[in-house]
Amino acid sequence: MSLGLNQKIYVAGHRGMVGSAIVRQLKNQGYQNIITQTHGELELTNQSAVASFLAAEKPDQIYMAAARVGGIYANNTYPAQFIYENLMVEANIVHHAFENGIKKILFLGSSCIYPKLVPQPMAEEALLTGKLELTNEPYAIAKIAGIKLCESYNRQYGQSHGLDYRSVMPTNLYGPGDNYHPENSHVIPALIRRFHEAKNNSNPEVEIWGSGEPRREFLYVEDMARASIFVMNLDVDKYNSCTEPMQSHLNVGVGEDITIGELAKIVAEVVGYTGTIVFDKSKPDGPPRKLMNSNRLNVLGWRPTTKLEAGMALAYSDFKKNASQ
Ligand SMILES: NC(=O)c1ccc[n+]([C@@H]2O[C@H](COP(=O)([O-])OP(=O)(O)OC[C@H]3O[C@@H](n4cnc5c(N)ncnc54)[C@H](OP(=O)(O)O)[C@@H]3O)[C@@H](O)[C@H]2O)c1
Repeated sequence: MSLGLNQKIYVAGHRGMVGSAIVRQLKNQGYQNIITQTHGELELTNQSAVASFLAAEKPDQIYMAAARVGGIYANNTYPAQFIYENLMVEANIVHHAFENGIKKILFLGSSCIYPKLVPQPMAEEALLTGKLELTNEPYAIAKIAGIKLCESYNRQYGQSHGLDYRSVMPTNLYGPGDNYHPENSHVIPALIRRFHEAKNNSNPEVEIWGSGEPRREFLYVEDMARASIFVMNLDVDKYNSCTEPMQSHLNVGVGEDITIGELAKIVAEVVGYTGTIVFDKSKPDGPPRKLMNSNRLNVLGWRPTTKLEAGMALAYSDFKKNASQ
């Protein structure tokens, strides 16, 4: 067994969709020493609690998949909590990792860090080139701060203390552990729920907001977890060859997008809904296209392996399992 598999790894946010996938993938890959804390056991906004935990455990690596996450409604309704909690979680973990000699962190951000009117596909260098989407600006600012925290600690203490704090920016994710809340879920879980209910109730049609024409990108969460482990363990010279000290984050996407209309057809097929899909064009569409440029990660040797149809079938199985519990 290689020494690497014995490293002590703390996955923050292990009960969330991404954190739980990272734990599954780490276990699949043979990592033996994974530590976790529920939100109830460790409040990550509490500086002294984080300081004590990291001082006691001193993990070798930290995956930062804990965050206050939500859709447009939650972001608009609770902007103070979105900025405060995310800033505190990041600052506490990064600073006390440094204080305790923890050299490796992978911070998870989001594609919402990029300006609203950015050229598509969105490349890493688009960061801080324009105004953010207003609905989730506080959240995006906190995520940008997370990247800059990692970079600043690397710049000030990287050489002297051997720090290597990295960041990945995932596109839209879906898969097991997703949030299927009727009013506050992302597009794929919302469509899964609506087609499932329409099938069970024999509804002749399902109405979808907007024209169905906007294009979006979707990555299966297990692929995201594999990408996270890949980036965390990438040789430092390779990582540095594709990043800059003040532009150190890497996009994680599939490299292709589909229209919401095409997506709806795939979900309907996977769910087995045979009624009609109707588009309500009076409702807003949002930006016409949102696609990440993931060339840097591709050049480094990582590509996703899960096709949308296959990932959707796995997501639907997970939905049905939860619904029956
Ligand atoms: N889902 C996506 O489509 C997507 C896309 C791009 C990026 N990401 C990024 O991926 C990361 C994880 O997202 P996710 O979808 O897995 O979110 P999630 O399912 O909501 O999981 C987040 C986890 O963090 C925990 N947490 C939140 N605040 C905490 C605190 N103050 N102290 C301790 N634990 C706390 C939550 O616990 P409780 O539930 O108990 O609060 C939850 O287990 C986030 O940084 C997000 O920005 C997600």
